[in-house]
Amino acid sequence: MTHEVVLIPGDGIGPEVSAATRLVLDATGVDLGWEQRPAGASALETDGALLPEGTLEAVRRCRTAIKGPITTPVGDGFRSVNVALRQGLDLFAAVRPARSLPGVPTRHHGVNLVVIRENTEDLYRGIEFARGTPDATTLRRKLHDLGGFEIPGDAGITLKPISVSGARRIVRFAFEYVRANRRRKVTVGHKANVMRYSDGIFLETARTDAGDYPDVAWEDVHIDTLSARLVRSPQDFDVLLLPNLYGDILSDLCAGLVGGLGLIPGANIGWEYAVFEPVHGSAPDIAGQGIANPIAMVLSGSMMLRHLGELRAADAVERAVDRVLGRAEIRTPDLGGQASTLEMGEALANEVLRGDAG
Ligand code: NAI
Ligand code: MG
Repeated sequence: MTHEVVLIPGDGIGPEVSAATRLVLDATGVDLGWEQRPAGASALETDGALLPEGTLEAVRRCRTAIKGPITTPVGDGFRSVNVALRQGLDLFAAVRPARSLPGVPTRHHGVNLVVIRENTEDLYRGIEFARGTPDATTLRRKLHDLGGFEIPGDAGITLKPISVSGARRIVRFAFEYVRANRRRKVTVGHKANVMRYSDGIFLETARTDAGDYPDVAWEDVHIDTLSARLVRSPQDFDVLLLPNLYGDILSDLCAGLVGGLGLIPGANIGWEYAVFEPVHGSAPDIAGQGIANPIAMVLSGSMMLRHLGELRAADAVERAVDRVLGRAEIRTPDLGGQASTLEMGEALANEVLRGDAG
């Protein structure tokens, strides 16, 4: 059976790691019907839109997509393409596993974490009022009238909405994830002592709904304390359940724990659609040089295969990553080697083709 999947190469190193990923996924023998679509700065050039309607339509039709990183031009009027994509497809859960890989020099060993990040609310929702605009002035006045809050006239404002319904679906997603994947524990990160009405809802909802999962252990930890404990003893943690912004930050922290952004895959999941993508960005500092590490996107591809029910192929890709890294002969510069993106892709594809004999 052909699995129709949309491939969005994206910007910067996106097309480079996408090409390598396609090589590896095709080597599994799974029949993937690739439909390539643009998004991001490159799409603005070719299609006149950062997120062309045709791209969204293709994802809605195929239901599954894998994407490279996207550069959102910084400036007025542009919302983040990623935020627009996650909200447009209601991809409310980001799943980002960070585990120690063989042959990768790191401070910690035996790290096996999964960040589950709420993807649609919080400060990341993008509700903002620019400094000095009439809307910002209106909002400042309202806040003064409502609660005596004094906000300086030269302030920009970003809002942080967190709802019971939004928290509930990600809490239940996380607890179901622990059950389905035989994990140990959920750690909820928050700052509910200060942000009582946003993080407070997140924590309260976790507390309430955890009652439906008596078999799943859970705890809550303040986000600042959690950061300190994570860098000290990441082995103490298992599944981290986080509101949007904390999830963004700690995803990169967890990537750092196990060898960097070039290694960490991700999935954005909703009730209807799933979009797989590495945690890293478009890495403008190394784009175009053919030296980006494709493993983060390759492992995103393996998560996609698992999602499509192609479990053996997903295992084969992960095994290939472990073996190639473990031999430490072929490494991209971020891991201290000299291999190119394509050389790494080819090594992984060959390892997949060799299969169990490898
Ligand atoms: P970044 O992740 O692109 O880069 C941070 C550092 O990690 C850079 O030194 C880069 O060279 C390195 N790096 C990242 N991926 C790598 C890889 N596969 N192999 C080797 N080294 C790698 O983050 P930054 O610089 O904050 O953002 C750059 C652009 O990416 C921005 O326009 C940002 O908006 C965008 N971005 C897009 C994301 C997405 O599409 N999902 C996620 C994060 C950022
Ligand atoms: Mg990020």
